[in-house]
Amino acid sequence: MDAIKREVKAFAGALFSSVIILVLDYLPKFIKRKHLEGEYHGEALEKRLETKIFGGWKMFKTMYEINKLEPLLKTGQKLPQNLEIIDPYGQTKEATKKFSHVNFLVVYIAEAHPTDGWIIPLEDQPEISSHQNATERLVASNQLRERMAAQAGLHAKILCDKMDNRLSLLFAAHPERLVVLKGDQVVFIGGKGPFDYSINDLEDFLQKQK
Ligand SMILES: *[C@@H]1O[C@H](CO)[C@@H](O)[C@H](O)[C@H]1NC(C)=O
Repeated sequence: MDAIKREVKAFAGALFSSVIILVLDYLPKFIKRKHLEGEYHGEALEKRLETKIFGGWKMFKTMYEINKLEPLLKTGQKLPQNLEIIDPYGQTKEATKKFSHVNFLVVYIAEAHPTDGWIIPLEDQPEISSHQNATERLVASNQLRERMAAQAGLHAKILCDKMDNRLSLLFAAHPERLVVLKGDQVVFIGGKGPFDYSINDLEDFLQKQK
């Protein structure tokens, strides 16, 4: 019964989001701006206002799949002992060992808008297809690292999820998710991206940890 409920909820949610996106694409710019101001700023906002992101069936399918996923881990639980992620700079190591002394870490899990999926026609959108193997994922993560450095001045270390997408599934992370770990213990799982993804929530949480 719960499974059916989840299906219906995921379907309805995807339908709702699709309609919102479609409507938003064609609304007058000042209304569109009001809606997007909280999510985008400055140049990114201007660019977003120029872009129609409705992606038809592939977009709906993406959102439906995202909606259906729930994190396998809950706050308070520990990361699995044998969890592995790919370190492009070295050998694959146990994630728990990596996390214990890292402050800010990006784990690249998948391309949100691959050329064979829900395409967003932004001028500087990277042309990346869904990864078929770890090499492709590593190459894409390297592009992300370079872009983060060049466009945002961020020099975070990037690791990659393995091709079984295990880390992504543990947190229902696709397309993006903020997580805080204390050692190997999950202490915070942010909302599902992009609509419930909140950097403010993360900041509030981290403030309280001080
Ligand atoms: C990865 O996949 C791409 C595309 O299918 C292919 O061209 C490439 O040879 C593969 N690389 C490895 C190391 O398997």
